[in-house]
This record gives sequence, C-alpha cells and structure tokens, in this order.
Amino acid sequence: MIPTVLPTYNRAPLHFTKGEGAWLIEQDGRRFLDLGAGIAVNALGHAHPALVKALTDQAQNLWHVSNLYEIPQQQALADKLTEASFADTVFFTNSGTEACELAVKMARKYWYDKGHPEKTDIITFSGSFHGRSSAGIAAAGSEKMVKGFGPLLPGFVHLPWGDHEALNGAITDTTGAILIEPVQGEGGIRPLPDQCLKGLRDLCDEKGILLILDEVQCGVGRTGKLFAHEWAGIEPDIMMVAKGIGGGFPLGAVLATEEAASGMTAGTHGSTYGGNPLGCAVGCAVMEIVSDPEFLADVNRRAGLLRQKLEGLVAAHPKVFEGVRGSGLMLGLKCVAPNVDVVQAGYKSDLLTVPAADNVLRLLPPLNLTDAEIGEAAARLDAAATLVEAAL
Ligand SMILES: Cc1ncc(COP(=O)(O)O)c(C=O)c1O
Repeated sequence: MIPTVLPTYNRAPLHFTKGEGAWLIEQDGRRFLDLGAGIAVNALGHAHPALVKALTDQAQNLWHVSNLYEIPQQQALADKLTEASFADTVFFTNSGTEACELAVKMARKYWYDKGHPEKTDIITFSGSFHGRSSAGIAAAGSEKMVKGFGPLLPGFVHLPWGDHEALNGAITDTTGAILIEPVQGEGGIRPLPDQCLKGLRDLCDEKGILLILDEVQCGVGRTGKLFAHEWAGIEPDIMMVAKGIGGGFPLGAVLATEEAASGMTAGTHGSTYGGNPLGCAVGCAVMEIVSDPEFLADVNRRAGLLRQKLEGLVAAHPKVFEGVRGSGLMLGLKCVAPNVDVVQAGYKSDLLTVPAADNVLRLLPPLNLTDAEIGEAAARLDAAATLVEAAL
C-alpha cells in the first residue's frame, strides 16, 4: 500500500522534535549536530531568537494579506535586498523552484518586449540543479530528473560544465540567457572559478545576452559574501535566491536589474503567498544579521577553521575521503568510500550531513556555528569515518 506521505524521499528513520542552534534533538533525546541545516536553509541555526521574535511578533498581527494590497514587510525586505546587491527590484516567491520559473519567464519576456521573440533559449550546464518544477527540471536536464516527465519545457540548451569551447559555439541568435549556479550544490559542491564567472559575464556582455545566477543554495552569506558572485567582482542581470533568506521559513526571491525586469509589468506574474508578511518579517531579520560585514567576516573565519579540520580528516582517513572543496561554509568532502555510507555512519555518530552528486559529502552548517561546534563536527566526522573504515 502506498504510504500516506507520497514516497518521493528515502527518509532516514529520525524524528526530530526540537532544534537549538546547530543542534537537532531526536524524540529519543539524542542531540544531533546539524551540518546540513535543512540543506542550507537554517542559515542562522534552529530557533534563532531574532527570527523567532520576528515571526511571532508578526504572527500576533497579520499572517496573510493579498498582493492586491501593499505589504510593508515585503517592501522593507525588497529595500534591504536591493540596497545590499546589484538589484533594482525583487519579486518574492515561496521556494527556489518558483524563483527559477520567474527567472526563465523574466528573461523570455525581456527579449519578447525588445522585439526579439526568437531569443527564448537559455544555456544551462551539466550537474546543475534548479528545482523540480517543469522549468527547473528542463533547465537541469539530467536524466534522473526528467525521465518520465516529458514533454519537457523547450528552450534549454545543455552544455558540459566547464567546457569553454562548447559555450562559445552554443550561443546563437536564439540564445536569450545563460543560467548557472556560482557554486553547484546538488551537483557536488563545485565552485565555478572566479575567472570563469568573470568570463561568463564578459561573454554575456559581448553577445548581448542575460546572465542569470542561481544563488538558491550558495547565496545569503553561505560562501562568506552576501552573494557568491561577489567573489568574482561581477553582477548578474537576474538572480534566484531562496533557502537561507527565510532561515527556515519558506521564502524565495528573484532579484533583477531594472533593465532585465523591464518586461514584468502589472499582470505578467503573481503568487498568492509570495512575499507574505510572515516570510518577509523573518527575511528582514535574516538580512539584518547576515548582511553585516562583521558577521560575514566571521563566516569566513569559521569556514577557514572548518576547512583546516576537514583537511586533517582527509589526511587521517585516505580510504574514506580524498579531498575538500567548496567555498565558505558550503563545503564538500569528496569521498573514496560511498558518500551515503558516511552519511549513515554520521547518523550513528549523532551527526547530520547531506550527500551530493560526484560522491561528495555536503557540509552546509548554520553560518553561526561556534568554534567549539566546529571542533565537535570534526570529532563526529572522525568517528563516522572510523566506522566506515571498520566496515571496508
Ligand atoms: C541551486 C538550487 N536551485 C534551486 C533549488 C530549488 O529550490 P526549492 O527546493 O526551494 O524549490 C535548489 C534546491 O536545492 C537549489 O539548490
């Protein structure tokens, strides 16, 4: 009999009943160190007092009001995001995949209104992940995601990740945009080198096409800058954000320049819940903390410390790990042993990690985990690796 919850996830038999900072407490009382943070969602850990206050204060007053009316919390968050980024304007969504939908629509509408309705193609890359909607799976294009779900949304051109020549040859008169994650998350924590992102920006400028960045996983302080593309010193035309911006409350956004957003006039897009007062109140609280340069400096310091410990683990467990990669607190341990075995051994060591493609173990801890918790993370990863070795 089919489970009453549609079985699209292989769930671990863990039932968490409470979260405190970087810790999740299982119903049997075990305290798990959470290095997954809901897959880069709980950017400030669980039950951060400022976020709890923002949410509960808002909940006392107004939960939902239609986008037919002004929503001051939405305005406040849009102002914060535009002030802190390249963007001139923001549309709020409830998730990353909805942000992808709008990014695609926005790029196509831009060209349509410019008198180039033929420029519908969007170039994407192997290993990418942009969500599970029809546009998201068509954009990523991997067999795993699209098999059985055809006909796919047309207009995506898939290129091998890192193949510069293929990229140059792929831009045609029907190309409207390039869509890329500055650091691939699901694809195995693969950062795009800064010079490649700069090269992409130059190419888009030269060919007159739009650059769309998917910062759903790598944005909101995760890499030690507010947005990952800042490391390369470039600016996109359109950017997708979600996950960390809500700190655990479902919230996403599309940020864009005035020019790129010029086709999105009244009536061209909408969302019942997108930008609702609860989500935006929490988003404002997240932004206040995460956009502070001192907080970001601390993320970089913590990232250095964690990375150093991970390098030590690679040296200590060569049969389990072969290297560390990533950016800031978006780190991957490339595994020799099956990554899922390390995830499972982590459960036995009261530790949560997340597998990714390319046999990588993903570490996406809360951005505010303490130095002591970094030490504890290393100790628990060491214990997990020792368990994996013992079973080899
Ligand atoms: C880079 C990227 N884009 C888009 C998405 C989709 O976001 P959501 O699951 O919120 O729809 C994800 C989710 O993992 C992601 O990592």
